[in-house]
Parts: sequence; structure tokens; C-alpha cells
Amino acid sequence: MGNRNFCSFPVSLIICLFCIYVKVRGLDNGLALTPPMGWMPFERYRCMTDCERFPRDCISERLFRRTADLLVSEGYAKVGYKYLIIDDCWMERQRDNSTDELLPNRVRFPSGMNHLSNYIHNRGLKFGLYHDVGYKTCMYQGPGAIGHFELDAETFASWGVDYVKLDGCYATERDLDEGYPAFGQALNNTKRPMVYSCSWPFYKSKPNYQIIKKHCNLWRFAEDINDSYESIVDIMHIYHKQQHLLVNHSGPGHWNDPDMLVLGNYFLSYDESRLQFAVWAVMAAPLIMTNDLETVRPEIKALLQNRDIIAINQDSLGKPGKCILTRRNFQVWARPVEPINAMGMNSFAIAFVNHGEFPECPLCPQTCEVLLNEMRLVNPMGYTVVDLFNVSNDLGLYKPRDTFSTRINPKGVNFYKFTVVNIY
Ligand code: GLA
Repeated sequence: MGNRNFCSFPVSLIICLFCIYVKVRGLDNGLALTPPMGWMPFERYRCMTDCERFPRDCISERLFRRTADLLVSEGYAKVGYKYLIIDDCWMERQRDNSTDELLPNRVRFPSGMNHLSNYIHNRGLKFGLYHDVGYKTCMYQGPGAIGHFELDAETFASWGVDYVKLDGCYATERDLDEGYPAFGQALNNTKRPMVYSCSWPFYKSKPNYQIIKKHCNLWRFAEDINDSYESIVDIMHIYHKQQHLLVNHSGPGHWNDPDMLVLGNYFLSYDESRLQFAVWAVMAAPLIMTNDLETVRPEIKALLQNRDIIAINQDSLGKPGKCILTRRNFQVWARPVEPINAMGMNSFAIAFVNHGEFPECPLCPQTCEVLLNEMRLVNPMGYTVVDLFNVSNDLGLYKPRDTFSTRINPKGVNFYKFTVVNIY
């Protein structure tokens, strides 16, 4: 027996094959089993570093402490927004002279990262940090990770980081393709669980999602979002164009990231805010807010904390949805969700979008009518329908040959759950 190769035993062979399978599947860190939820400053605060003139708005420990407090006191943490992520512009422009370690900016983060990390953890939140796989970070041009993957991963682990956003500026395609897996491996080597958010596909002309999903928990596939309806629609369009790819590669532990929720800032109307929140829930997108939690209007806060829509986003089937129908200026976005009936048929969350600009009246509400059959809702016993913006609004039972009719505000959405009826 003594020297026989472990894999020559049948049971061991199965174990070996399993190990190889796990390895081939790549990153399997047990994290982000549902899309991460949290807050990140970039769209709202950009790279404001002048704390003397703008102490409230600059990227500083003060901003993150205030936001940590508000995430808890305003009820966001309770509904799931746990990750408080520092974006670009937190670093000194040079690494430490003697150790080569990354340094937080001394003026804006005078207490150091461990202190801030403890502050965040003590409030029951998780701590995220931005970095770049190339030579410099995108905006601030602080030092990138290239050449220092192990060291930077260890530094992050020593600061108690729980989530890493790794950007892809100042890197060649080769740097990206080698760097993302290598940095992910360096994170794993630290043994500290850290959600790994990659911007890899966005910087590639032809992203290979089969490979990307092996290494990343989430990935940005589109441009940076702006605080506007047009930007939301652009990102929806990018998703729609490649949804055959995106949908297949996303699931528990691996999510498409269409970028932050811009609700609560300056430019979205109430209807446009509903639209982003509903469609992001259908896409199974990470729900990462970027706003000033102190000034979010009550009706937007209520939207952001709508537990029924959050439940759709976090649905345990873990299947992202897609645009299943386009008719005139309407789109129908549907996501398969729990519960499943005895026949194995699932329920659906369906967002009916009115992009406006109907020739007869560009800015009027419009009525969208669709047969359930056309949406592939074919359970003969039908579906019970509730309005996800107000679940006490029960619309009753619909069967596959029924027409579902809904009147939608311009640049707005109506969002319903179609719960599959069981066959008894
Ligand atoms: C890129 C990213 C943004 C943000 C900035 C910071 O543009 O896509 O999300 O992180 O860099 O510089």
C-alpha cells in the first residue's frame, strides 16, 4: 500500500476529481452568495480631496464615519446595506519608502485604516477598499498594485478589509488578464475572506466571462454611471445587448455589476428612481448606493429600503433576469424567483418600463398590455400578482391566456411579483 499514489484509490480518485473541479471553477470563496449591498462614494463625491474648503464632502475618514453612523441610524444596515466601501483617492501618492506598503492619506485619514476599519466593524458593518490592478489608480493616480500583489493583499487583510474593488486603469490587456487572477489569488492566500469586485470586463474589448467568473465575485461590465436617467438607460441598453452572455455567467458568488444606485442625489425624478431600483433588482445587481445619506428625501429612502424589492434582488434562486420583450417604447424585464411550485415552475418579478417619447404624447403615462403567454408565464393554474412598490395592492389571479395591463408613468416603471400557483 505504502507508496501508492493517493489518486489511484477509487474513492480518493473521486476526491481528487472534485478538488480539480473546484480548482477549475476557480474563485470559490463562499462570499457574495447574494448580490452585495452597501455604499460607495464615487458617483456622488468623486475625488474631492480639499478638506479645508469642503470638510463635509472630501474623501476622508470623517465622511466614512458619518456614513457608517447613518447606515445604522437611518435603518439601511437593517435591510441589508452592509458594505461601506472607500473608492479611489484614499491613498498617499507614494508607497512607504522603506516597506513599500500602501499608505492612507495622512491629512484625510489621520487615524489610519485600522482605526476606521474598527469603527465600521463596531457598527456591524463591513469594510471595503478600492485599488487598481495597473500602475496607477484611475483618478487620483495613487500607486497601483502591479508588482505588489502579495504585499497589498496582506496590507488589506491586516486592515480588516472585507471587500476589494479592483479597478483596471493604467494596465495593458495582458496586465489585466494576468493581474486579476493573480491579485485574487493573493487575496485568497491571506485567508481573510474578502469579496472581490473586478472591473476587468469593462476594460476588455472582448471579455471572457467564463474566465472572469472563476476569479471574481462581481464585475463591472459597463461604463461609470452618472446621476441621470440617460445613464441608467445606457447601462440597461449595454446589458440588454449582451444579456445572453451576462445572464448565463451570473449566479450565487458571481454577479454582473451595472454600477452604483444613484437614487437620492440631484437629477432623478421619483419615477426614474423607481426605475433604477426595480431594474437593478431584476438584473440581480449589487445594490451599492452613492449618495449623502443625511439628505436623501424620505420617499427615496423608503424606496431604497423597500424590503419586497430587496427580497427580489436577494432572491435565493440566484438567477438574474433580462429584458424579455420590447414593444414600442415599452420594455418588459423579468427575473425568475422563488417560490417554485410542485411542477418545478418558478415565480417571476416583472418590471414594465415606459421609456416615454410616444409620438402621440411623449410625456404621458401609457398603457402596456401583454399576454402572460408572451412573457412565458405558462402555468395553467396561473399566478397571483402583487405590486412590489406596495404589496398590499393585490391584483388577483392571472392565467396564461389573460392579458396583463398596466399604466406606467413616463420614464417610469411598474414592478410586480407574479407568484406561481400550486397545482393541487
Ligand atoms: C473608474 C471606476 C469608477 C471609480 C473611479 C475612481 O472610473 O469605474 O467606479 O472607481 O475609477 O477613480
